Amino acid sequence: MTEGSWPDPKIQACPIYEPGLPIETVARDLGLEPSKIVKLASNENPLGPSPRAMEAVVGTLNRLHDYPDGGTWRFRELLGEKLGLDPLQILPGNGSNEILEMLATAYLKPGENAVFGEYGFVVYRLATLHAKAEMRVAPMPNLAHDLSILRKQIDDQTRIVFLASPNNPTGDSLKAEEIIEFARSLPEHVLFCFDEAYAEYATNPVDLRPLIAEGRRIVCVRTFSKIHGLAGLRVGYAYSNPEVIANLQRVRQPFNVSSVAQAGAIGALKDEEHQRKTRELNLESLDYLERSMLDLGVWVRRSEANFVLLEVSSGADCFDALLREGVIVRPLGGYGLPRHIRVSTGTMEQNRLFVDLFTRWLEAKS
Ligand SMILES: Cc1ncc(COP(=O)(O)O)c(C=O)c1O
Repeated sequence: MTEGSWPDPKIQACPIYEPGLPIETVARDLGLEPSKIVKLASNENPLGPSPRAMEAVVGTLNRLHDYPDGGTWRFRELLGEKLGLDPLQILPGNGSNEILEMLATAYLKPGENAVFGEYGFVVYRLATLHAKAEMRVAPMPNLAHDLSILRKQIDDQTRIVFLASPNNPTGDSLKAEEIIEFARSLPEHVLFCFDEAYAEYATNPVDLRPLIAEGRRIVCVRTFSKIHGLAGLRVGYAYSNPEVIANLQRVRQPFNVSSVAQAGAIGALKDEEHQRKTRELNLESLDYLERSMLDLGVWVRRSEANFVLLEVSSGADCFDALLREGVIVRPLGGYGLPRHIRVSTGTMEQNRLFVDLFTRWLEAKS
């Protein structure tokens, strides 16, 4: 075996996913209590988990010796009722990231390609590389998807198009009509993966279920990490036609969603009050953050999700300065956006603290 060729150089070249800094690490480095650290870096829910989810999780603890329901039946039935779909059209995963990986495993092979925007969610890139397939990266002028540009990247070897709206990290959204027209325009050999991580926050969400019912190759992906406040449990799901779901079933790990995660997600799904409160706080936060940035003369993109994108000359400097004060935001150098940061919405108290510290940083810099 030639040295340096094991494992496959394509795997050796894969970047390692860099998460937002964990609260515990920052607290330790700064010598602060973890409760003093404010994390606005990973688009989590500042209200915490749904209380009904927490109760349901506790209820599973005396059964941890049993394997989970490997078919996630109760969970899929409930999701099916909520979405008006058959449980055979739904597949839960260990976070929606796992679903994205399953899609790449099932639908991509070397020589084929996946298409996505240059500032698309990083896992599209990683999943494509793990499948040893090619990436066709579409430019995003003005940091926004342009579907005609995305469409031009598609060729005979394209098997998946990944698209999120709202997109993370740029916060751009497309109109429902545009997405539907795009989905209808795709050739038969392409599976359209529509990532709806932030769908529950959107005022005018896109509904692709009618197109799925027509038999189009579309898979929608959702997560419990955002509005449901369960990022730590790792639950997401795909819905599509039964054929696509059966292919994902073929490549998934047995028991990929733990019993604790299934119970928590079921509890959260029933907790409409928590979702409503989260949505209300998020709108108030977006209004406040947008207005504050405009007052400061800072370029801001308000999203239809739970974060804003800011242009700050040096994202790394801004990140470091805020970090020293115990506020974690997300610099976007890794996305090729060294001048930008992404700030998740927090509680109003956290938002105010961020704006105060950010204003001080701007003043010190000028
Ligand atoms: C667009 C998008 N898709 C997928 C995910 C992954 O979410 P999960 O926690 O369910 O893996 C995220 C998380 O930030 C996201 O922003």
